Amino acid sequence: MRLEGRTAIVTGGGQGIGRAISLALAEEGSRIAIFDIDGERAKKVAREAEALKREAFPVEVDLTRKDHVLHAVKQTLDRFGRIDVLVNNAGTDKMGVFVESDEEAWDKIIALNFRAMLTTCKAVLPHLLARGGGRIVNIASDAGRAGSSGEAVYSGSKGAVIAFSKALAREVARQGITVNVVCPGLIETALLQALRDSAPTNAKILDAVARAIPMGRVGRPEDVTGAVVFFASRDADYVTGQTLSVSGGLTMA
Ligand SMILES: NC(=O)c1ccc[n+]([C@@H]2O[C@H](COP(=O)([O-])OP(=O)(O)OC[C@H]3O[C@@H](n4cnc5c(N)ncnc54)[C@H](O)[C@@H]3O)[C@@H](O)[C@H]2O)c1
Repeated sequence: MRLEGRTAIVTGGGQGIGRAISLALAEEGSRIAIFDIDGERAKKVAREAEALKREAFPVEVDLTRKDHVLHAVKQTLDRFGRIDVLVNNAGTDKMGVFVESDEEAWDKIIALNFRAMLTTCKAVLPHLLARGGGRIVNIASDAGRAGSSGEAVYSGSKGAVIAFSKALAREVARQGITVNVVCPGLIETALLQALRDSAPTNAKILDAVARAIPMGRVGRPEDVTGAVVFFASRDADYVTGQTLSVSGGLTMA
């Protein structure tokens, strides 16, 4: 087990990619705090982790609220006494042509995909700095590397995650903290299905993207977990500021 004795926070850990990451970290021996706006989902994943004989702590938190995040981090420290790994996974999307997009949608996407990640990093970093080490793994998207049709604002928010992560990685490297990014491509989750269902044009675009995946299939949440475990583990001690696509070859950059 590569993460024995560690404690990890996974944001948006209640379903989809976040759930798979939470369970993969637990399988590698980590205690996990599952931060999700849907408390019931978080509890369900905590029970699944406990079935693997790991301690798990479900926390109901709206990551776009600073007061919620600070309280959730404090609760995690009260419960586990330490934080070693922060996985910023929660994210959202709304597809459509940019020129027809509304500012309310921009605000929602930026608030969760970028700003909430800043909030969790700022809340957790003092503990990592005080302990002299830690791991941050941010989940962006291939859209943030290459741009994606119908997802201009989403792509921008994920590009911001990538650039921020590189800059932060430089800032904290000498304090033993690494910051890396995992970029999923198309992964079969409730979010992807909601995008398909949102409009026939969106479904068409996503079908075309799926057909362009060199490996010939849409990914599963479990496909993303190996990269996150790697960045969280000792195997990645000398790796920071990196961006790794997990997308069946969709983006090669
Ligand atoms: N599914 C894909 O194809 C895909 C592709 C590339 C990147 N990603 C990224 O992967 C991450 C996870 O995506 P997913 O498909 O598993 O999403 P999902 O919508 O299936 O799950 C997201 C989870 O985040 C939680 N959440 C939403 N808003 C929250 C908030 N304000 N506070 C706390 N929790 C909140 C939800 O309750 C849910 O459990 C996102 O950052 C997404 O952008 C997904």
